[in-house]
Amino acid sequence: MSPTDPIAADPSGADPSPAGQALLTVRGLSKRFGDNEVLKSIDLTVQPGQIVALIGPSGSGKTTVLRSLNGLEVPDAGIADVAGEVHVDFAASPSRAEINALRDRSAMVFQHFNLFPHKTVLENVIEGPVQVQKRSKVDATADALALLARVGLSDKRDAYPFELSGGQQQRVGIVRALALKPQLLLFDEPTSSLDPELVGDVLDVIRELAGEGWTMLIVTHELQFAKQVADQVVFMDGGRVVEHGHPRDVLVSPQHERTRQFLRRLLDR
Ligand SMILES: Nc1ncnc2c1ncn2[C@@H]1O[C@H](COP(=O)(O)OP(=O)(O)O)[C@@H](O)[C@H]1O
Ligand SMILES: [Mg+2]
Repeated sequence: MSPTDPIAADPSGADPSPAGQALLTVRGLSKRFGDNEVLKSIDLTVQPGQIVALIGPSGSGKTTVLRSLNGLEVPDAGIADVAGEVHVDFAASPSRAEINALRDRSAMVFQHFNLFPHKTVLENVIEGPVQVQKRSKVDATADALALLARVGLSDKRDAYPFELSGGQQQRVGIVRALALKPQLLLFDEPTSSLDPELVGDVLDVIRELAGEGWTMLIVTHELQFAKQVADQVVFMDGGRVVEHGHPRDVLVSPQHERTRQFLRRLLDR
């Protein structure tokens, strides 16, 4: 079933979101760092439960898109809307509270894990729920332990990040994001700093989440994975979306020469 299938989207007839309401709508997102125009009016639409793979060469602005949605960068213009419930107009100088309201709808998984080195695995996972979301430590711990069990890391709860492999650290990174119970998961090249033999485990966890209906925006260079898992592929270059669509169309028969070049180069590595 496709996520846009009305039956899939509304099995109980009790879907609280208006029909056809996108989970994420981005329009005209623009950002410059000094003279460097990094995002040049980016549009994105992500339906509930969709997996969107964001691909493109280094420097094309992929990370900046994710960071903008997660409140880590503030774009100069454009809008971001989550489920029709949070709406930020960046051109209207939004307050920190408005940016935080947007940030709170998503959770990010970073390329370099970004775990707190001086905190244990469990402490890393409950930090956000307890400090930011003000949940009780008992509840947050129970949730965290259940999530760690799911990714096979129960025995690492009291370990420190340096004691874990990269693949284990990234699974903790994913659990930390899930613990926030976000509407949208943002992955920034979640496997590109892993040794090749550790990539599979992390992709398997993401695949499982995809099967559970999480909505995800994933920056990745894993084309095979994108082809299998994504509902939509978005190709960015030079701060613009060059083309987007079904993985078959964008990855197998792309319309734009720039996309073809990028894919060729990636496949040649
Ligand atoms: N904090 C920053 N300050 C200045 N320039 C930045 C900053 N973050 C990103 N950039 C620049 O923005 C461009 C896009 O970067 P990025 O979003 O990281 O691209 P990608 O993730 O596609 O590699 C690059 O030219 C990068 O150097
Ligand atoms: Mg990046």
